This record gives sequence, C-alpha cells and structure tokens, in this order.
Amino acid sequence: MKIVVIQGPNLNMLGHREQHIYGAMKLEEIHAQMEAAAKQNNFEIEFFQSNLEGEIVDRIQECLGEADGIIINPAAYGHTSIAIRDALASVALPVVEVHISNIYRREEFRHTSLIAPVCAGQIVGFGPFGYHLATVSIIQIIGEIVARREAQAKE
Ligand code: DQA
Repeated sequence: MKIVVIQGPNLNMLGHREQHIYGAMKLEEIHAQMEAAAKQNNFEIEFFQSNLEGEIVDRIQECLGEADGIIINPAAYGHTSIAIRDALASVALPVVEVHISNIYRREEFRHTSLIAPVCAGQIVGFGPFGYHLATVSIIQIIGEIVARREAQAKE
C-alpha cells in the first residue's frame, strides 16, 4: 500500500516561514515523522512539494494506479484552485487535507477550502502534528477500503 504526500507552495519554507503560525519544524523533519509512522504500518510513502499549481495537478494525476491514498496540504491553492480540486476528484482516491494552522481562525480569504468536498476529511489547526494525524487517518481509511474489497470478493 502506498501513500503520496503532496505539499503546496511555500511549505518548503517551513521552519523559517512565520514560525508563530507554522511552528519551527522543517518539512524534512515532518516527513521523517510521517515516514516512521508509515513504515510501522508497512505502508510505502512518497513526498512531493511544488510551488506550481500545474505541477501539483500533474503529480495528482500520476497517483492513478500508483497510490492508494493522498495526503495534501494545498497551502494557498486550497483556497483558489479548481484545477487541483478537479484533479483530486478525477483520480477518485481517498484524500486527507491538512492545514498546519487553523484556517477558520485566520483571515476570511482562508476560510474556504475548494478541495474539502473531494476529501475524506480535513485536519486543521494542530500544527505540524496534523501531518502525523493525517498519516494515521489515511492508513485507517485505506485499511477499511481494503477490508471492504476483500469481504466483497468472498461474497
Ligand atoms: C496553510 C494555510 C494556508 O492558508 C496558507 O496559504 C499556507 C499554509 C497551512 O498549512 O496552515 O500556505 O495551508
């Protein structure tokens, strides 16, 4: 089973960027924690970060036939990108959306997520720990899908 983690614009700046909002952890440190949780559960995990909307759309499309679930922090594109939402809807894989900060407590333009309706769930406001919650959540969701498939095959 494989999880693909997609990180949107400016998340490569974590650890440096607005630490009072996003914390001090660097993206590589967050990914190392996610990798440990995935490995413990015998899941493969791959990481991708881009500042470009089209590259994120391409990476989502590549998940078809390659991944069993997606964790995405679309960053600012979550508030604006119909293209990313459509890409997620096209691949029809389980998706967990993550935002480090609580977007609902911030400026009004951050209150809308265009991708939330095509996600299984959303984890917001728990800081970098949200990525760990997202990892265990997607593992649980994929496990349930596999169990359902196996039960149907036996019927
Ligand atoms: C963010 C919230 C977005 O509003 C913002 O543009 C980001 C990071 C978060 O993780 O809290 O870049 O997605």
